[in-house]
Amino acid sequence: MRRFLLGLALLVSSVQALPEHVQQKLDSVFSDPAVRDGFLGIVPCDKGFLKRHGVILTDTTRRHGHVPALPGYIIKGGRHGEKAARRKRTNIGRIAGAEKLRAIVQELGATHVRIPRKWLYHLPGMPSEVCDDNYVVVVERMDIVGHTENKKYMWNLAPAIASELREVLLIARYTSLHSANIYMLADKQTVAIVDTELYPNTPTLESCLRQFKKMVDPATVDALP
Ligand SMILES: Nc1ncnc2c1ncn2[C@@H]1O[C@H](COP(=O)(O)OP(=O)(O)OP(=O)(O)O)[C@@H](O)[C@H]1O
Ligand SMILES: [Mg+2]
Repeated sequence: MRRFLLGLALLVSSVQALPEHVQQKLDSVFSDPAVRDGFLGIVPCDKGFLKRHGVILTDTTRRHGHVPALPGYIIKGGRHGEKAARRKRTNIGRIAGAEKLRAIVQELGATHVRIPRKWLYHLPGMPSEVCDDNYVVVVERMDIVGHTENKKYMWNLAPAIASELREVLLIARYTSLHSANIYMLADKQTVAIVDTELYPNTPTLESCLRQFKKMVDPATVDALP
């Protein structure tokens, strides 16, 4: 437990502060408890209500949304109404995974792989304990191609990009390896790993590689040095 708390403290201190204008805007939107609880799905409310209060829900599971006044960011809620253990860790898992993946990218000096910045945002009026009821995650929005288009880009990935991405994913033992979580960016030179949660039951290297070859043409992968 002490090791976990120490790890959490180190992690939180290593994450950069949320930009001031984002903090201020979110404070004004989420200071209304009805908006906060509606966004989190704790209290039923329709999308129209949230929209009128400055938040757009973009996902039927009520976990993703954005604030139109903050176009460069996405807001993700955690798990609510689920068992306590799961409900506690989604948000911190997203942040921890993003930091780990970014450290791997930096260590490798990979230039074709990006990890969006993620911040924990404390919901006004909620207790400070780091669990999914009290925070949302603010995510740097990446300029990604559409999902159908992405599948094709991923399948036909250039060897230079495939090689770096394979290294990052294998070192991280990335779990949810598919084209809804890893996207080509508009520059067509860089891919972003947008879903950054890593899970305790890590897959083996072989299983990671098998998944990678379902996303990227195995002929390309097998020809990599
Ligand atoms: N940083 C980002 N920039 C642009 N689009 C994003 C970003 N993050 C997520 N998305 C979009 O939202 C979709 C869902 O994202 P993601 O996979 O992170 O959510 P999820 O599967 O619900 O994961 P999580 O476990 O984090 O809730 C993606 O397929 C992508 O279209
Ligand atoms: Mg996902």
